[in-house]
Amino acid sequence: TIRAFIFDLDGVLTDTAEYHFLAWKALADQLGVDFDKTDNEQLKGVDRMGSLQFILQKGGLRLPEKQILALAEQKNHHYQQLIAGMSEADLFEGVTELFNALKDRNIAIGLASASKNAAMVLERLGITDAFDYVADASKVKQGKPHPEIFLTVADALNIPPAQCVGVEDSLAGLQAIVDARMYSVGIGDARVLHQADVVYAHIGELEPGKVLGNAADKGR
Ligand code: BG6
Ligand code: MG
Repeated sequence: TIRAFIFDLDGVLTDTAEYHFLAWKALADQLGVDFDKTDNEQLKGVDRMGSLQFILQKGGLRLPEKQILALAEQKNHHYQQLIAGMSEADLFEGVTELFNALKDRNIAIGLASASKNAAMVLERLGITDAFDYVADASKVKQGKPHPEIFLTVADALNIPPAQCVGVEDSLAGLQAIVDARMYSVGIGDARVLHQADVVYAHIGELEPGKVLGNAADKGR
């Protein structure tokens, strides 16, 4: 039986995936590196330095460490400007209902976000208290696609990974869920997220009863 749902944040509960993209795009433009939405699929879920390394590598740029750190700082500053105006209205439609439905069924709710800004985004969305456990970038050594962050949440909730559902919009995050041996729900384009057990275009379409039924059919 499924006893926990572990959610990614950016792009799953709110549209911050778009803000990350805009901030990386601005930086790539400044560096003269070609960067589009297809490239960005590879970056979703990937931590800040890993994302920057991807862009530098794509542009064939080798820069001194000090400059790389300054660029990461610049991107983060831009990102923080983009999220500064966020409020509860930016929570994706259906999330509150979904959380309530899970609570009614006594299912634990966890967060597994690669972002160092996760706590701030949760505050702005007004959902900090909705979670039984929150893991962000500060809690783990290895970023997604490594399963550590999902396993850390399951462990903190004291629920075996096989009884957890992971919800992700990113390729890296889905890989982490699959390697954690959790039941995987993709949010986004099914052609991109083909690894997932089930994909919904939007979190508002996720019906917990259906997911639990499908998971049960797969022996969960
Ligand atoms: C992930 C996003 O949630 O967090 C990535 O999907 C982002 O796009 C990563 O790079 C790290 O975020 P931050 O806020 O620590 O730079
Ligand atoms: Mg995401």
